[in-house]
Amino acid sequence: MDKKLFITTPIYYVNDIPHIGHTCTTVVADILARYHKFLGEDVFFITGTDEHGAKVAEAAREEGLSPQEFTDKVSKTFSEIWPKLNINFDYFIRTTNPEHKKIVSELLQKIFENGDIYKAKYEGLYCVGCEKFITEGEVVNGCCPLHPNREVAKQSEENWFFKLSKYVPTLIKAIEDENHPLHYKISPASKKSEVLARLKAGVNDLSISRADVSWGIPVPWDSSQTVYVWVDALINYYSAIKINHKENFWPANLHLIGKEILWFHAVIWEALLIAADLQLPKEVFAHNFYTVDGQKMSKSLGNVISPQNLLERFGIDGTRYLIASSFPSFDDADVGLKKFEEKYNADLANGLGNLVARISALCEKSGFNFKSKKEFVFDPFFKKQIEAFRFNDALVFVWDYINDANRKINEIKLWEQKGETFKESLQSFIYRIQEIAYHLQPFIPETAEKILKQFEGPEIKPGAALFPRIENEK
Ligand code: MSP
Repeated sequence: MDKKLFITTPIYYVNDIPHIGHTCTTVVADILARYHKFLGEDVFFITGTDEHGAKVAEAAREEGLSPQEFTDKVSKTFSEIWPKLNINFDYFIRTTNPEHKKIVSELLQKIFENGDIYKAKYEGLYCVGCEKFITEGEVVNGCCPLHPNREVAKQSEENWFFKLSKYVPTLIKAIEDENHPLHYKISPASKKSEVLARLKAGVNDLSISRADVSWGIPVPWDSSQTVYVWVDALINYYSAIKINHKENFWPANLHLIGKEILWFHAVIWEALLIAADLQLPKEVFAHNFYTVDGQKMSKSLGNVISPQNLLERFGIDGTRYLIASSFPSFDDADVGLKKFEEKYNADLANGLGNLVARISALCEKSGFNFKSKKEFVFDPFFKKQIEAFRFNDALVFVWDYINDANRKINEIKLWEQKGETFKESLQSFIYRIQEIAYHLQPFIPETAEKILKQFEGPEIKPGAALFPRIENEK
């Protein structure tokens, strides 16, 4: 099979170090990438860091480092943590990469030459936290709703503008009409409606350069300005393809993002692409947010959960499982370490871990030789859930098998069986465990592989506990 699939995560700002929010998008993108690889598809999966702009420059200043030193340092915390979670990206893009900078310049130059960029004076309220202009109506106590600790600043500059408004009618048609040559999907449906409503309410042109931000890519025809950080960032998806000579993977099949950056990914990006004569992505999926113990996660509240926290407590696959099963696909989801511990103990230590431990111990005790692996394929219902971003439903489907098997062991008192009956029962539990592990490969690859190996036969023996129980700290 040579179906090509290009999957992306947002590139994360380096003013912050990795937290559970970044982790959830990246883990799920990895699950999707692995899932499609299992189906025999050719996948190109990228993540990276967004390193220019006022916010990053400010963070560098606060640490007393040059922007480049600072971004080198923080970008590494992202590129190094993902492999520890078994996130198998094919490329990690940094916007300070000289090749990316060149591609941004070329692309903008092309749009400029096509006549879609002009100079104008702009006055507005800018939120450095969002790196965007916001309207008067959005301001609460002098701040934007997402960044209550950062006052918005009045900006008044001559900037270069992109004729975003010109593309609005085309974008509306492209989103609404599945047969439109430029059709792209925005999902879930509620997010598509949001975008359409906003497009229909009227859209202004977009300021795409800044005179007062020096930490950025110079505008190719006007070195007194730098490219607006969001335009620079969006183009990363295209640069990653060009840098790796993966043109045959263009356009992207899926931009997986959080809900707060939907407008950039579902409107601005597509307009820029049309203006540059490039093909549009097939789908933008915007998930909702995690809250932590009922509150917005924030440094000032001190409730930020880091991927290191999760790894130390739950291990690689424990973390991947907890993220996938709580993934905020359609609604915000509340998470917390206490909840995670309970879920870990119930589903992983008691559920899967126990099943594997009990059956392997009985296999060893029986002294029988067993038949090896059957051929498996992903169950259609399970596939449907994954493809609809319903990761928890896919896992619940597998856990129904696990819980059912554990129940059945007790019901038939498997440990009391003897002879052929015992052998046949064990063999059927072995197949069931193999099938469970087969399905879990995209989610918890290391554990799934361990189980498949352990239950290969002919002799089956217990191994170390897969998920040691976490005892509650009193
Ligand atoms: N640099 C931009 C993205 C540019 S993409 C061309 C950016 N970076 S970010 O560091 O702020 O990361 C935002 C993304 O992190 C969200 O879109 C989402 O994927 C993830 N999350 C951040 N906080 C989150 C939660 N609390 N919950 C779930 N995901 C969250 O925006």
